[in-house]
Amino acid sequence: MKDLLITIDGPAGAGKTTVSKILAVRLGYRYIDTGALYRGVAFEVISSGLNPDDDQGIEKLCSSMDIKLVPGENGMRLLSNHSDITDKIRTPEITMLASAVSAKPVVRKYLLIFQRNIGKGKRVVFEGRDMGTVVFPDADIKFYLDASLKTRALRRYREIASKTVQTLEDVGKDIRHRDKNDSTRVLAPLKPAKDAVIIDSTDLSVEAVVDHMKLYVEKVILI
Ligand code: DC
Repeated sequence: MKDLLITIDGPAGAGKTTVSKILAVRLGYRYIDTGALYRGVAFEVISSGLNPDDDQGIEKLCSSMDIKLVPGENGMRLLSNHSDITDKIRTPEITMLASAVSAKPVVRKYLLIFQRNIGKGKRVVFEGRDMGTVVFPDADIKFYLDASLKTRALRRYREIASKTVQTLEDVGKDIRHRDKNDSTRVLAPLKPAKDAVIIDSTDLSVEAVVDHMKLYVEKVILI
């Protein structure tokens, strides 16, 4: 059976995390959430008191950062300088800062090498924004998962409703803002790779999306 490297890109709230995790489990592959890496950098920018506009400071920070993704009981854990920051990187502040720092060449360069190293052994599902376009242009299978803005905002709101004071409108505004940042930046903007399989999940259940992906993967494995 062929060992594959699979990428799943798409905007915030399209359901990438949920389906990537399930697909990886069904295939017996590792799952890598690359957004967590950008969030990790954002977390360290705040923790070290750096001004987000201080590109030189962020460059220095990246060269001294030690981040690791390690398997935990409930999925992958993000370690930074040996401390587990997994539960600290999902705040609205980190979410917006991750989008901002992800536009910086120095941050993308640092994480590009990091991600390519993880991908060497294949048998991985990578979730992100530029996995199929920039990080792994030769990936065996590329998916691009999308959904309407309204659906994405509602899904994200339901996910975080118990942990946030944000209203549905706030969440929608943040997603629109991030869509704009992530898709209009000069470096590695969010867009489907030319050879990506595009799936619109607006009216599809999680199971339907995963089944569709799994069928596609099985066809490729058999070729
Ligand atoms: O997937 P996420 O919401 O955790 O990602 C947080 C931010 O990180 C997102 O707004 C853009 C950035 N990101 C990126 O630029 N490239 C990736 N491959 C993954 C995330």
